[in-house]
Amino acid sequence: MTRGGAISVRGATKVYDPDGARVIALDHCSMEIGAGEFCVVVGPSGCGKTTLLNAIAGFHELTAGEIHLNGQLLSSPSQPATPGSDRVVVFQNGALFPWMTIAENVAFGPMAQNKLEPKQAKEAALETLETMGLSLIANDYPGRISSGTRRRAEIARAMACHPQVLLLDEPFRALDALTKTVSHQFLMEVYDRERPTIFFITHDLDEAIFLASRVFVMTTRPATVKKILEVPLPRPRDFRLLASPDCQRLRAECQAAVRAEALKAFSVGERER
Ligand SMILES: Nc1ncnc2c1ncn2[C@@H]1O[C@H](COP(=O)(O)OP(=O)(O)OP(=O)(O)O)[C@@H](O)[C@H]1O
Ligand SMILES: [Mg+2]
Repeated sequence: MTRGGAISVRGATKVYDPDGARVIALDHCSMEIGAGEFCVVVGPSGCGKTTLLNAIAGFHELTAGEIHLNGQLLSSPSQPATPGSDRVVVFQNGALFPWMTIAENVAFGPMAQNKLEPKQAKEAALETLETMGLSLIANDYPGRISSGTRRRAEIARAMACHPQVLLLDEPFRALDALTKTVSHQFLMEVYDRERPTIFFITHDLDEAIFLASRVFVMTTRPATVKKILEVPLPRPRDFRLLASPDCQRLRAECQAAVRAEALKAFSVGERER
């Protein structure tokens, strides 16, 4: 069962104009993401992925085009989106408050966004942590747990608001390979249990194929969709799937598309990563 969360990006264009130096980050970018779909976005560094995520999150307005959520206008130049509890972001560099315990951090969203009383919010937080197998760290402070566990706590904090849409910007980028695998399993279990719509940005193509229902490969800046790869692998998924011929073929296809765009960016002086 899904809780809504269909996203329709229609001709989204974003021009940054710092000090008159125009940077076109998105140019007539369109994509349709179904409610409860796990969508992964890959593309060359600096192409505009975070810009698109921020527009969906409501952190900045579009220069042209529209974004719809469940068929309702969410953002246009004349009606910029505002952040809301229906869309929650998990940031690249983490955002837990170091002075709060994990339970207090997880309770923060339901209090701030869902307007729960502190007592109810704490109960909801403890319930979320228990469902996610994180009860043991409820009373720990972020600085006292490992980076992988912190990432999981951040996902728990995001999910405590029961958002329709979970937006993740390279959330596991800084983790070592083993911790990444555990984090993938964690996120997949959250997804299989709650089916939010997921918009997940990464540069790791194995991660993209392993997690996604569909992978959107973006062009070099300004970003538009270059290619959409369907990943018809059954769920729940096991990391050993990555060695299968189907996964290897999809990965090669994805890599070829991203590499072609990264080379274009490189040739015009952008940094390839
Ligand atoms: N606030 C801003 N003001 C001016 N230019 C910006 C701003 N934010 C992003 N840009 C520029 O817009 C372009 C797209 O940036 P964005 O961060 O969306 O790319 P990205 O695909 O997320 O990159 P990365 O893979 O490195 O995270 C880049 O050229 C960037 O320098
Ligand atoms: Mg980015």
